[in-house]
Amino acid sequence: MSQQNLRFIVQPGGKLIGRIRVPGDKSISHRSIMLGSLAEGITQVSGFLQGEDCLCTLQAFRNMGVQIEGPSEEGKVTIHGVGLHGLKAPNTDLDMGNSGTSMRLMSGLMSGQAFDVRMTGDSSLSKRPMKRVTVPLAQMGARIDATEQGTPPLVVHGSSQLTGIHYEMPMASAQVKSALLLAGLYAEGETSVTEPAPTRDHTERMLRGFGYTVKTEGNHISLTGGGKLTAMAIDVPSDISSAAFFMVGASIAEGSDLIIEHVGMNPTRTGVIDILRLMGANLELLNPREVGGEPVADIRVRSAKLKGIRIPEALVPLAIDEFPVLFVAASCAEGETVLTGAEELRVKESDRIQVMADGLVACGIDARPTADGIIIQGGKLTGGTITSHNDHRIAMSFSIAGLRASSSMLINDCATVNTSFPGFVQLAYGAGLGISTDGE
Ligand code: S3P
Repeated sequence: MSQQNLRFIVQPGGKLIGRIRVPGDKSISHRSIMLGSLAEGITQVSGFLQGEDCLCTLQAFRNMGVQIEGPSEEGKVTIHGVGLHGLKAPNTDLDMGNSGTSMRLMSGLMSGQAFDVRMTGDSSLSKRPMKRVTVPLAQMGARIDATEQGTPPLVVHGSSQLTGIHYEMPMASAQVKSALLLAGLYAEGETSVTEPAPTRDHTERMLRGFGYTVKTEGNHISLTGGGKLTAMAIDVPSDISSAAFFMVGASIAEGSDLIIEHVGMNPTRTGVIDILRLMGANLELLNPREVGGEPVADIRVRSAKLKGIRIPEALVPLAIDEFPVLFVAASCAEGETVLTGAEELRVKESDRIQVMADGLVACGIDARPTADGIIIQGGKLTGGTITSHNDHRIAMSFSIAGLRASSSMLINDCATVNTSFPGFVQLAYGAGLGISTDGE
């Protein structure tokens, strides 16, 4: 479990040099456990992310009777699938920790089971909105109890007869889409969603990999219940969301030249590359290839003079987890950067618009939050004392800001970095960031 008072201390300056490999993709790792458990046969996963979020998903399926070996040190996991109807009632609550992905996707999956489950989360997850999944799932016939505010804990009642619906999603959310598609595996007839903008499509890709038919026609995605999943091998690429910290770091730190290996390049995830390129970053994609149905490449990043931009709204869902560190890039750019259409950032592990604005202001940057985005004037980053609000991406973003700060950065409450990026401190230190830790 997370340590409570871990603090990062970042000495100012430095540059990022060499070759690194960041850990496996969080979204794909979660889905590998879920679909591998529900498949018929043995699914071998390599490159699994051993972050706390994905380990919560793994433990949940163990608690429902699935035999899972690993993860080994290199991220090998062997899942003995039980089939779509083979899960057993857990004799404990399912603890989803900090993980919105686990809670929301599992809400869909659990709706189709023959038993009740109670899903709990940490203090951050216990504040996050769940009506976005419980309302459409109820339309399918699911019975889910939440708090009056629609937050966890959730009790999902089993033995519900689910019926496919068509759902027009009010927000661009892969988690909502995935929850409905996963419930759709158990529903009578067709389940379909229309997304207001493309979101990550790992669920659709992986379902197809497991032999399930999923139709994508423009922004309309559908499947029909009653099929089966057949086990396969999954090679999880490195997480572009983790690579993003190093893309920004090497861009802003003069003299940097860094290669980030084996990064997932799924086109529903590459908004960070497009945005950084619009800002003038020097990113080169090397050795593009396909691994287990997902495109992968190595990324070479050399430092560049960045300029402020108006971020195209169409890129927002394609870079949704990368904005905290993109705000650091904007702080180091010449001129103004304007983000709009990103109100979803307010309901992540923290309110990422407010928390980043507060932290940047504490570091001497003119950062003004708006209802659905932020306006940042590039300037000179001083050091400062930052609270991450227990949000992993906030902690890592301000660590990277240290590369351009004029004095040390002290970042409090960094233990949640382990939810998505175990080994961040060692990897970043090895590449040239002056980072160390203290606290429990
Ligand atoms: C995720 C979807 C995104 C993202 C999260 C992972 C997923 O959330 O922020 O880190 O794996 O489906 P939303 O779908 O709520 O935007």
